[in-house]
Amino acid sequence: MSSEVKGGLEDVVVSTSAICFIDGQKGRLLYRGFDIDDLVEHSSFEEVVYLLWHSALPSRKELDAHVKVLSATATRKLPPGLIVLLRALPKKTTPMEVLRTGVSALSAFDPDAADNSREATARKAVRLTAQIPWERIRRGKPLVAPNPKLSLAANFLGMLRGGAATALEVKTFDVALMLHADHEFNASTFAARVTAATMSDLHSAITSAIGALKGPLHGGANEQVMRMVEQIGAPERAEGWIRKALADKARVMGFGHRVYRVEDPRAKHLRRLAMELGQQAGNTRYVEILNTVARVVTQEKHIYPNVDLYSGAAYKSMGIPTDQFTPIFAISRVAGWAAHVMEQHANNRLIRPRAEYTGPTHATYVPIDRR
Ligand SMILES: CC(C)(COP(=O)(O)OP(=O)(O)OC[C@H]1O[C@@H](n2cnc3c(N)ncnc32)[C@H](O)[C@@H]1OP(=O)(O)O)[C@@H](O)C(=O)NCCC(=O)NCCS
Repeated sequence: MSSEVKGGLEDVVVSTSAICFIDGQKGRLLYRGFDIDDLVEHSSFEEVVYLLWHSALPSRKELDAHVKVLSATATRKLPPGLIVLLRALPKKTTPMEVLRTGVSALSAFDPDAADNSREATARKAVRLTAQIPWERIRRGKPLVAPNPKLSLAANFLGMLRGGAATALEVKTFDVALMLHADHEFNASTFAARVTAATMSDLHSAITSAIGALKGPLHGGANEQVMRMVEQIGAPERAEGWIRKALADKARVMGFGHRVYRVEDPRAKHLRRLAMELGQQAGNTRYVEILNTVARVVTQEKHIYPNVDLYSGAAYKSMGIPTDQFTPIFAISRVAGWAAHVMEQHANNRLIRPRAEYTGPTHATYVPIDRR
């Protein structure tokens, strides 16, 4: 590779966008100009979804109408045919595989499937955002009916666990959804935009995005963090464990970022909420382990916690199984992916970069029986 070509499209600006701004030096993240610290304090996931899709905060009336359609039983209900299809998947299918297959299949049931007008894409985005939490199918347990009176966060926790969630659990989950809703041209969003830029539809773009999110260098990192915490087991073992991992040149999940050169601004909110939930549950072990790991990694490697370091500790304290962590990321990011698909379609040009060719240029073809 020539010295001008950096791997991984690092620092390459591929397009303009008015959705999300990241200041990697100062550790700031804005959605449509609003600092996520302010949104975490004052907003809700539903309002953030509105903001991402409509470029402005809603009035009370607009928000009420938006929440009503997002939480309506008719919007949340999964087509019975999709349930049959997902139940037919082998038991070992992971939740991310279920999600990827399910979103792809949902387009076959969607009345607006191939319509790429802004109005149709917005309707599909509403349905996808409402339909996406379906964990009970994989586990073969009876489906819990969605409750139209509950926010997306409270409804998801209720459907997942089958009981009412505490106020702190709902707040934490809502904040986690807000914090994961968008993040500029990250790998999955870029995958969504590449697909949308061929003038393909929303479901196809989001299926591409889910495939990209699944990998451990992207959304899959939160599950790997929890597996590390479980291996460490106890706070007093954390320092020795992480020092050995660093000496072995291991890549430590939940640290480092392509854009941030300081701590990811989302991490502090999740650290605080994970600690509060741990205190409520009488078990702060996960956060204590992670705090020690963070201290050592930051000191030794000068890389900082990202969004995936503390989210799993919060989810685990709510009784959410580890293999649900990345699907939860997707439940939230579907809002950002949809905003990017709409932005791409509104001013579209095919995304088609070039490669610097490094292969042979004058290979002589030898017929197969003479090789
Ligand atoms: C996010 C990530 C993929 C960004 O990768 P990138 O911008 O391509 O950065 P690189 O992989 O080139 O890393 C740059 C340097 O930092 C080191 N580094 C980066 N992240 C690291 C981590 N999590 N653990 C250990 N070292 C890390 C690399 O080893 C490399 O060091 P070197 O220059 O001495 O070889 C990377 O930081 C990572 O793999 N993190 C862990 C996975 C994760 O948490 N992903 C979620 C992101 S929100």
